[in-house]
Amino acid sequence: MALTKEDIITLPNPHLRQRSKRVGHISSKIKSLAEDMINATLNWDESRDHEVGVALAAIQIDQPYRIIVVRNDLEDKKDRSFMTFINPEITKKEGVMTEDFEGCLSVPDIYGKVKRYSKIRIKALDLDGRQFRMTAEGFLARIFQHEIDHLNGIVFIDHIRDIPDAFYRLSEDGKLKSMDYEAVKQDSVLWE
Ligand code: NI
Repeated sequence: MALTKEDIITLPNPHLRQRSKRVGHISSKIKSLAEDMINATLNWDESRDHEVGVALAAIQIDQPYRIIVVRNDLEDKKDRSFMTFINPEITKKEGVMTEDFEGCLSVPDIYGKVKRYSKIRIKALDLDGRQFRMTAEGFLARIFQHEIDHLNGIVFIDHIRDIPDAFYRLSEDGKLKSMDYEAVKQDSVLWE
């Protein structure tokens, strides 16, 4: 059976703070894990009117392996294709630190203004075990930094804990509303 959004773990699940393991051999189990990640993300995406599920790390379906999947078209919900990155690493951080909104399938309805490098270089293996390199800018660079953080047990809210005006909540009409910092601190999910 295909995985669904119900298989995505969310805070405060402590597994999201675990460091994931490098993938050695790219077995059929690893390939089907990548499929599971894509299916769970697409199912989540179908349930959300105002958001696109652009990427997922394996730990978000409770599998502690260094694998991420990233959508090929970041804006078009109709394009259901993804690219898989195994053992991805940032090899260079460039550009300027840029602040923008960021959300996470494991932190439902919460968005934050997070500073990230505007340009990065990465290397990874594809599903056939071939190493490749890529340069990413803008939103794509942000996605890689967010997802590679997941492989190291870091969630985006960890970057903004000390910034009172960085937290936002998605309302039902799809608008981001600034959260009161005291409410953030009293939220057992955001501030465990
Ligand atoms: Ni995330």
